[in-house]
Amino acid sequence: MRKTLRYGMVGGDLNAFIGGVHRIAVNFDGRAQLVAGCFNPDMAANKECGQFYRLDEDRIYADYKEMAQKESEREDGIDFVSIVTPNFLHYQVAKEFLNHGINVLCEKPLSFEVGEAEELKALAEEKGLYFAVNYSYSGNNMVKEARELVKQGVIGDVINVNAEYLQEYLVDDIGKGDQKMVKLSSWRKDPKVAGISNCVGDIGTHIEHTVSYITGLKLKKVAAVLDNYGQPLDLNANILVEFDNGAHGVYSSSQVCVGHMNGLVVRIFGTEGAIEWVQENPNVLSVTLKGQPTQIYNRGMGYVSERSKEMNRLPSGHPEGLYEAFANIYKCYISTILKKVNGEEPAEGDLDFPTVDDGIAGVKFIHACVESSKNNAVWVEI
Ligand SMILES: NC(=O)c1ccc[n+]([C@@H]2O[C@H](COP(=O)([O-])OP(=O)(O)OC[C@H]3O[C@@H](n4cnc5c(N)ncnc54)[C@H](O)[C@@H]3O)[C@@H](O)[C@H]2O)c1
Repeated sequence: MRKTLRYGMVGGDLNAFIGGVHRIAVNFDGRAQLVAGCFNPDMAANKECGQFYRLDEDRIYADYKEMAQKESEREDGIDFVSIVTPNFLHYQVAKEFLNHGINVLCEKPLSFEVGEAEELKALAEEKGLYFAVNYSYSGNNMVKEARELVKQGVIGDVINVNAEYLQEYLVDDIGKGDQKMVKLSSWRKDPKVAGISNCVGDIGTHIEHTVSYITGLKLKKVAAVLDNYGQPLDLNANILVEFDNGAHGVYSSSQVCVGHMNGLVVRIFGTEGAIEWVQENPNVLSVTLKGQPTQIYNRGMGYVSERSKEMNRLPSGHPEGLYEAFANIYKCYISTILKKVNGEEPAEGDLDFPTVDDGIAGVKFIHACVESSKNNAVWVEI
């Protein structure tokens, strides 16, 4: 019986943003070890990162194709790869590893085109591989609690959703044309690297997934207005949505809202009550039942659901945050692959990670929003 996995990473050198968060998150449970990587196409930066993590020199690869090939040939090759590159590489890197029989966890958005995302799903199914897409906020413990409450019918039928993801960090770009800002995220505004959308693709998709995860509802259509403010891609988006149960909602996604840093807020309204979760205060959930004062649920307390208890890492009052949310996605994904390699069936709780289907939904959402905005905010079917 294997107790641990081996994994590799593509992207995420020592200066990158999210690769480091992934590595820390994997280490929370100590059940997968980083043994291979292609962290940067520049070999000096690549080696610096691989050596920092004490990888064998022959497993610090100059390119991801060589990595997929060589790792698939080794007896002690990687069990899965984490893809943490800018968006334009997700599809091609994921395809390469799937073709070599290696499980994939990929950052969002999954691909530029819907057809590419669907191709990745078909390939993963054909090869019998597990494909996760890192919609990290659904790893938060109290997001799981919100999902349980909706499932138990505590707020009745969902009739309205109001959700936002507001940041301010690109407000200085307004009116600056396509001048490149020397910023961590400068590639996010380049269509060749980011795809057809910046704001909706980068953070709007987190709203889309988090709402869908909590409610179990799928989007049917959207009507959107995206603002570029003279930039090549959108920095702001206001989106009307319709779900498959007929309910409507409003999503507001922005990188130009002064005073907001990483303000993902999800409010779900039902016939019997409402739930609100705020990413910057993630350990609590506001639950209001019709005619009653708002109750604050705290993570880790005795009254939360069994699922929330299972996924709890720290006693209540000791904050869990972004790292734990990522760690929870990895916990489920790694449990699933470990069961597979040991010839066991993964349980429902193991499979509680965002999949390639969620990745496809995200790419469809981006395309529908962009198409709607180009056509005077007409409703576009998903
Ligand atoms: N899930 C989340 O909450 C979340 C948060 C931030 C970023 N992301 C996603 O993660 C991805 C990376 O974002 P980031 O902010 O870390 O970007 P970044 O620019 O900080 O890092 C990208 C890394 O990819 C490497 N890279 C580029 N081309 C490569 C190649 N050909 N081979 C190997 N490595 C290569 C770069 O050297 C760099 O190390 C994006 O798709 C983004 O949407 C997700």
